[in-house]
Amino acid sequence: MRKKASEREAVRRLVGAATLARKAARAPYSRFRVGAALGDGKGGIVTGCNVENASYGLTLCAERVAAFKAVSEGRSGFTTIAVVTAARTLTTPCGACRQVLWELFGDILVHVENLKGESLERRLSVLFPLPFDSSSL
Ligand code: THU
Repeated sequence: MRKKASEREAVRRLVGAATLARKAARAPYSRFRVGAALGDGKGGIVTGCNVENASYGLTLCAERVAAFKAVSEGRSGFTTIAVVTAARTLTTPCGACRQVLWELFGDILVHVENLKGESLERRLSVLFPLPFDSSSL
C-alpha cells in the first residue's frame, strides 16, 4: 500500500534512530552489528542494539533489547519496528524476536534496511504466520 508523506517521514526517522542505535552494538564475536527502533507513530521511539556475550547463547538481538526496554519503561502502542544492518542480504528479525514482537506488539510493520538504503517492509503476520500465542492456551 502507498504511504502518505508523513508516514514515509516517520519511517525515515525510525531508520535514523536504528542506525544510531546500531553504533552501540556489542558484537565482538560475530562483528554483525544491528540497530532497531520501535515507533508509536506519534513521535515516540525506543531503540535497541544487539548485545553479545562470551556465552554465545546469552546474546540478545537488537529487536528484543528494544522490545524489553519499551516494556520496562512502561511504553506501549508501537506500530512499527525498523531494523538496520550493513548486510547485503536484508536482515529480517530472527524467529525468537518474531515471537516476542508478536506477543508484545501484535501485527506491527517491520521495516528492514541496510546502510546502502535498500529496504523491505512486511507486516509481522506475514513474517510470522500461524503464531503460537495466548489465544492458543
Ligand atoms: N541479530 C540481531 O540483533 N537481530 C537480528 O535480526 C538478527 C541477528 C544479532 C544477534 C548476534 O549478535 C548477531 O546479530 C549475529 O547473529
